[in-house]
Order: sequence, then structure tokens, then C-alpha cells
Amino acid sequence: MKLLVLFTLIWPAAVFAVPTEGHKIMIAGPSPIAMEAGRSIARQGGNAVDVAVAVGFALSVTSPYYASLGGGGFALVKMTDAVQALDFRETAPGATSKTYFEKLDKDSSITGGHAIGVPGYVAGLWALHKKYGRVPWSKVIAPAIELATKGIPVTGEWVRVTTYNKPRFSEGGKSTFLKKTGASYLPGEVLRQPGLAKALRLVSQKGEAGFYTGPVAQDIVLATRVAKGMMSLEDLKTYKVRWLTPMSTDFEGHKIFLMPPPSSGGVIITSALKLIEMQGLKKKDFLSADELHLLGEIGARAFRGRSLLADPDYHKNPINYLLSEAYLKELNESIQLKKSKELKPLAGNVAPESSETTHFSVLDSEGRAVSLTVTLNGFYGSGVVSKAYGIALNNEMDDFTTRAGEPNMFELIQGDPNSVEPGKRPLSSMSPALVEKDGKVIMSLGSPGGPRIVSAVLQVLYRSLVTGLDMDQAIQAPRVHHQFQPHKLFVDKNRLSPEILKDLRGRGHEIVETSVAKVYGVRLGADGVLEAAFDSRGEGGAGGF
Ligand code: DON
Repeated sequence: MKLLVLFTLIWPAAVFAVPTEGHKIMIAGPSPIAMEAGRSIARQGGNAVDVAVAVGFALSVTSPYYASLGGGGFALVKMTDAVQALDFRETAPGATSKTYFEKLDKDSSITGGHAIGVPGYVAGLWALHKKYGRVPWSKVIAPAIELATKGIPVTGEWVRVTTYNKPRFSEGGKSTFLKKTGASYLPGEVLRQPGLAKALRLVSQKGEAGFYTGPVAQDIVLATRVAKGMMSLEDLKTYKVRWLTPMSTDFEGHKIFLMPPPSSGGVIITSALKLIEMQGLKKKDFLSADELHLLGEIGARAFRGRSLLADPDYHKNPINYLLSEAYLKELNESIQLKKSKELKPLAGNVAPESSETTHFSVLDSEGRAVSLTVTLNGFYGSGVVSKAYGIALNNEMDDFTTRAGEPNMFELIQGDPNSVEPGKRPLSSMSPALVEKDGKVIMSLGSPGGPRIVSAVLQVLYRSLVTGLDMDQAIQAPRVHHQFQPHKLFVDKNRLSPEILKDLRGRGHEIVETSVAKVYGVRLGADGVLEAAFDSRGEGGAGGF
């Protein structure tokens, strides 16, 4: 009753929000066109992985500012065996070093060739399909090739992001994403990407080798070199994905599977879930100042250990310490209900983080699932786009600690362990998640949003498993984010009442009104109905059957 009253007072729309429902397989992600590509593969007998691979390739056509073949990502997958984690994140080129960025301009890890990490996108989708795919490779890429060839109507988001990035584009960016006159497209106008269609055909015929060797690789290296970067043909040829053991934790009768390092998400979400239990958060009213304050204080404490994490092949991550009873007890005891309290950083040598990424979730009625997050880091990544094939290249190098003590693009202070080293993957906040009940996956979710990903995934898990909201309501509910440094509470703009904001300020929070990430999720109910939903904070689609 109390919950319903609060909903009506603060957030009336939620009462009427409904997820999209199905009974066999559902998909939620950022583009309705890409969702349709996935659905067509499911109709042809494709399993959750076939659908995910089709959606992944289709997104590279519809949404190149965050889902380009020139990016990378993480996936959690449950098919026939245990949940698996796939790391296809970008790596630092061979010619880089710990001090690489010290001699360069401050912007060099964000725009231009130096910012580009070796892309893992194609290798990731190839590895997923090789291990679990049922429908032939050429078939799952076919919808993307058709979209690139025939063209897609561009969306409002596409136009806004592309127009904003115009000044950052290399020659390839201008020729691929602007009209011949140099003008921007308008929403609803059709964009054809013949270069990308050719690259996709090569990948369709030759597998991952069609991207990592031959003319596509040469085009990428050329664009990088023209933009002064150091990535080589050898870097591309030797790129490898990694299968990792996911992290898992019990919460409210469910098993939550999360991404291990080089994602910081698994460690942060696990510690936050433990602190939520220790604080007895579920006794607090939904969206009350007490609840939101505690979510902020818990978030800040869970983020505190992030600066100690890095690529596990290069650094021994102190996960046991960060999740130990003693350390969590210390964090728990430092939380005060009526006052925000700032803790000292853990590591001596830490610097602050800065966003574009996307996510999609697939789940079928048997509990087979894919939760896949991909990123270029910033919108259109480095601004460098390969000329012949129109592939936008990431700026993932900015996720490393490029300069000790200085904040990155996401105001994150990063630690020494996350320094640049050849072949290393930068620390990430991407947090694909799967939830099991009695051994069966019943939820697949994730989000873009840099460090805000972690808070968004945590709070949608909480809203769904504890507050008892359906998939759509859990995603639309207002969220807060605290990443330890800076000591600020980020809250969703226009979603909390002035009274609640005043109360939070009264507890010492410096409030920043913004948008706390964009979650896409699918959930299987006890009645066998699949609910899919996308976040009203951005564009999206949910579909299936
Ligand atoms: O891996 C990371 O944490 C960042 N590259 C993610 C960036 C991001 O989510 C931007 N999205 N809006």
C-alpha cells in the first residue's frame, strides 16, 4: 500500500508502465531495428547466442557511435553448461608503455589515434558463435549486411550524437556519417553504409580473419596511423578473447552472476549487495530519503576499492580482501543514517574516471541467456573512422590510468595497477549480469553509462528482487549514483521530488541532477512469461515472441 501511494505521489507514470511480453525468447536493447534482426534469427531456429550475435552485428550498423566493430565488450552467457564470462575488451597496442601518455597532449587518450585500443568486437561475436551458435555464421550476419546495404532511417539520438561529434571526425567519419555536402542527416533520413557492408561480407565469408587480417585490418591501421596512433597489423592479428569464470553471489534467494576483472562491476556490485543486506535496506520505504541516502553511501563504499583493480593477467586483484568480512564490516560501520560521511581513499596513488556504450539482453523460456555490453568508450570513440570500410574506432585507452592522480573522462580516479602496458586491457565498469533461481537463469540485464552502469545494474537488481517491481518498473524507477570520488550524489534529473532532494542535501550530499545510465533487461516470471524492457532515459526496443 505504502509503495503504491509513493508511486502515485512521486512517479505516476510507473503505475502504467508495462514490459513487452513473450513466451519463447525476448530481447531488450537500444535499437528496435537491431532487435528485429535478432527476432528474425530466432524465427529461423536461432538460439539465444545466434540472436545475440545477429543483434550485435545489426547494432554496428544502426548505432555506430557505441556499437562499432571498432569497439569491444563483455558478455555473460548461459547455454548448456555453467554461466561463462567472455572478455572481448580492447587491448593496449604493443608500442605503448606505462608512460605513453605523459609526453602527449591531455586530450590524446580521448581523441585521435593514440586513444585507440585493439578492438575485440568481431572476435567476441565470433567466439560466442563458435562455442554455442546453431544457425550458420553467414546467416546471423545477413541482417546486418542488408541493413548496411539498403540503409537505415537514422534516429533522433543518431543525429544528435553525430552532429555533436562532427568536429572530432577523421576523413572517414565525415565521408561515412555526413552527407556529401558536409551537412548532418535529419531524423528519418536513410543512411547507407556500403563500406561497412563490404567489411561485414568479408567477416561473413572469412570469420574473424576477415576483420583482423587483410584489407579491413589495413584500413584500420591506416586510419590509426594517419591520426598519429601506434596500432599495428600485428596487434590486430594477435588479438585474443578470454573466457573467464564469472563472479557469483547469493542475494535474496537468487544467485547473481557478474563480470570479474578487468571489469570492476562484479566486485563493486557484490560488495554493495552485501552492504545492502548488512544495512537492512529492505526495511526502508521505496524511494524514501533514507533508502536513497543509504544507496548512495553504500555505492560510495563499494566503489572505494575500484582503484586497486586491473587486468588479472597483469595484476593480482585483492578481491578476497575487498569482499572479506572484516573489510565489509568496517565499511558498514562507517555508514550513518542521517549524515553522508566521506572515507579516505584506499590506495595512495589514485586518479578520477569519465561515456559511449550500449547493452542488450536475451533470455529464452528455458533459461538460456546472453547479457552483452559493448563500448567505444566515448561516443564515436576516438573520432577516428576507417576510410574504406567506415568503422568507428574506440578511445578505450582513456580507461587506463593515463596520468597518475588525474581524473579520466568519467571523473574516475584510477589506481596505479591500471597503468598502460602492451597487450593489457583497461579496467572497465561494464557489468552485464545474469540472475539464477534454482539453477535456471530468470533475468538478463545490463547498461551503458561508464561508472553509473554499476549503480544502475545494482539498483535494477534490487528493485526487481526486493522491491518487487516488474522488469519495466524496475528499470524506469529513479536511481542514484555515488562513485566514491568525487564525493557527490548523482541523481536522475526530474525523477525525485524537491522534498526528497532537500532532505538528501540536509544529510550533507552535494547533489548533481543527471541521468543514471540506461538499463535493458529481460526477466522470466514464475508463470513462464518473459518480460522485456528498455530504459525511457534513451532510445530502445524490446521484442521477441
Ligand atoms: O568500460 C568502461 O567502463 C567504459 N569504457 C564504459 C563507457 C560507457 O559506458 C559510456 N556509456 N555511456
